[in-house]
Amino acid sequence: MEPHRILLAISGGIAAYKAPELVRTLKRDGHEVRCMLTPEAERFVSPLSLQAVSGESVRRDLFDPGEEGEIDHIGLADWADLVLVAPATANLLAKMAHGLANDLVSAVLLATRAPILVAPAMNVNMWSHPATQANLETLRARGVATIGPEAGELACGWEGLGRMSDPAVVAEAAAGLLVPSSLEGLRVLVTAGGTAEPIDAVRSLTNRSSGKMGFAIAAEAARRGARVTLVAGVTSLPTPHGVDRVDVRSALEMREAVLAAFEDSAIVVKAAAVADFRPVDASDRKIKKEQLAEGERMTLELVQNPDILQEISARKGDRTIVGFAAESHDVVAAAQRKLARKGCDLIVANDISRADAGFEVDENAVLFVWPSGEVEELPLLPKTGVAAQLFDRIEKLRERR
Ligand code: PMT
Repeated sequence: MEPHRILLAISGGIAAYKAPELVRTLKRDGHEVRCMLTPEAERFVSPLSLQAVSGESVRRDLFDPGEEGEIDHIGLADWADLVLVAPATANLLAKMAHGLANDLVSAVLLATRAPILVAPAMNVNMWSHPATQANLETLRARGVATIGPEAGELACGWEGLGRMSDPAVVAEAAAGLLVPSSLEGLRVLVTAGGTAEPIDAVRSLTNRSSGKMGFAIAAEAARRGARVTLVAGVTSLPTPHGVDRVDVRSALEMREAVLAAFEDSAIVVKAAAVADFRPVDASDRKIKKEQLAEGERMTLELVQNPDILQEISARKGDRTIVGFAAESHDVVAAAQRKLARKGCDLIVANDISRADAGFEVDENAVLFVWPSGEVEELPLLPKTGVAAQLFDRIEKLRERR
């Protein structure tokens, strides 16, 4: 595997004794490893041992001019291809979830744009406490990966979940996150979520898109080293790690945000569900029921929205542009018509009549529909898996040029 730069953050639990072994395993895999410790971690593992096994000086203090002079904490955060937190105590997970930055480790974790993997270790009751589980949920939603803990006899005398995974298992999980930085230097523009077209001050026309598909695509592009702009429609999802997000509501706002980021983008993926129509006149006041007589009908006049995908495909240049197609029947034929009309490089078609794929759920079953007429059918995959398959195809397409 390609060597990477791994920053190991060690927090204060008994499992910190496994840290030197973890450093040795990562070094054996060819990685460059630097260590940083919380003040509590030093009670469990000596900085000198870590320095000896890593071959690098160990960082401990945010405010030590000597340490900051050697490599400052932002430099350290930027240096890493991956930050591995092992062991991660309940306290450190809570600090990460709430964005605290009052010591070196928490400050670096807040500043880094590298992927983060945490290997929790704690007492079983601390682990199962709703506060710890809620913090983990928050972190996972932000794209932080976790490994373990394992069940077994704990240092505190209790039995149950709470042991840090073995160094070999942690190192393997780290390797799984260290995908090649194949998109480094490129800007990727992704759209996600549904648009909402205002009818009046409180109502809008919208659709069922949750944003999950587009957010998974943005996260995958960031994992591959791209600078990512995510134009997000109506969604409640947290921003994936390392992604610049622009929030919009209507199709017109989405068009503006897409055009603003388009010039600098090498790859554009349009996974958003954009409304094809909007009300002609949106009232800036709430339309009152009393405005209509009992039983009287109301007509909402709609006008077409601009087709953003078609507009940018007409100015494609060297860019790779991918559209999605949400279809309820004749999926392939409809996607092929869309590909021809919109003029993009690839259409990812999904059958939205399936309950287990498409809108809202965590999985998707897609077809890659190519201008050559070739159609590739993928099995039902997590949306993260669809995103990875999509970028594998995009990269191949760009290599062939
Ligand atoms: O968000 P999720 O809940 O995870 O659901 C994912 C999804 C089903 C929304 C996603 O996988 C998907 O299919 N997105 C495209 C939905 C859609 O609007 O399809 P469409 O067939 O109407 O549009 C085709 C393409 O043209 C899309 O890339 C769309 O972004 C683009 N478009 C459409 C209309 C418009 N005015 N401007 C556009 O750019």
